[in-house]
Amino acid sequence: MAAPIIHGVRTVGVLGAGQMGLGIAYVSALRAKVPVLLLDKSKEQVSSSLKFMDKLLAKDVSKGKIQDIEAKEARDRITVLDYDTHGIEGFRDTDMVIEAVSENIQLKRTLFKSISEAVNPDCIMASNTSSISITKIAAATIPEGVSASSEQGRKYAERVVGLHFFNPVPVMKLVELIAALQTSQSTLERARAFASACGKEVTTSKDVPGFVSNAVLMPFINEAIMTLEKGVATKEDIDKTLKLGMAHPMGPLQLADFIGLDTCLAIQQTLYQGTGDSKYRPSVLLERMVDAKWLGKKSGKGFYDYD
Ligand code: CAA
Repeated sequence: MAAPIIHGVRTVGVLGAGQMGLGIAYVSALRAKVPVLLLDKSKEQVSSSLKFMDKLLAKDVSKGKIQDIEAKEARDRITVLDYDTHGIEGFRDTDMVIEAVSENIQLKRTLFKSISEAVNPDCIMASNTSSISITKIAAATIPEGVSASSEQGRKYAERVVGLHFFNPVPVMKLVELIAALQTSQSTLERARAFASACGKEVTTSKDVPGFVSNAVLMPFINEAIMTLEKGVATKEDIDKTLKLGMAHPMGPLQLADFIGLDTCLAIQQTLYQGTGDSKYRPSVLLERMVDAKWLGKKSGKGFYDYD
């Protein structure tokens, strides 16, 4: 079956095969039905992510959510690019690249510069960042010596947009769409159409630290960590209070483990530095746990222990 064209998007590149990148590749291939090129520096990460994806597809088939043929077609739409052979150049013929690497502004700016040099002049460059300024990322795409306000400079930065998926991507129904100061209307419309084709509802947020989602979620998680730090209640009772008392699917400490404590800390630091507001100051306990490399579910230990 021919791949659909969603607002000019025929092929998508996903940069980063961690839990977010894998989920984005999954919904792009299964829901939007577009070919996906997946790129990650770590071969181990790619291989464990693809194993997880195979398990997810098999489960969806066994539950009757999708047909066997749909799972096979989705899997066939995903091509892994070898980092050593292709690098970011491998995204040359894509119409949209979605970056899903860790929350580090320098890393993202360097990668976006490379992406902008590699891709065609219509390609949308989207970041799945949870908190970092899309405007700052967009500014990194303008070639040296080119004025940011010139027509040439604007042609790079206007194709950068925030497309913030939620974990686990196959399950969560939302994508937050964030326009940088430079983002064009056409980029926004194309990105919104793509997120809808992935089966997501779309909300928009201004380019402020943490956008809507994490400006609200992270102080909540941090408050739960400080409540534990102060000895007000056990971790189990803090989580149970929010789960059963407020009908949250997970307690805040369990959710922090699920997101990754390093990611929570990075987002909180961005919020704190970006606003100067003390309500966003990360708790000392969170900092210490990240120092200890207790990063939550992915590392086997966080507030809870995992197999
Ligand atoms: N990937 C794909 N699917 C997954 C999954 C994963 N990592 N984890 C669970 N699922 C699926 C399961 O396969 C299952 O699907 P079926 O119904 O088809 O069987 C479904 O989710 C429910 O899973 P479980 O029955 O195992 O467990 P559950 O009912 O406790 O649900 C949960 C698990 C969906 C994660 C639920 O606990 C939940 O919604 N938690 C809150 C998650 C959340 O808040 N996410 C946002 C985090 S913030 C973020 O991502 C943004 C950021 O910037 C930090």
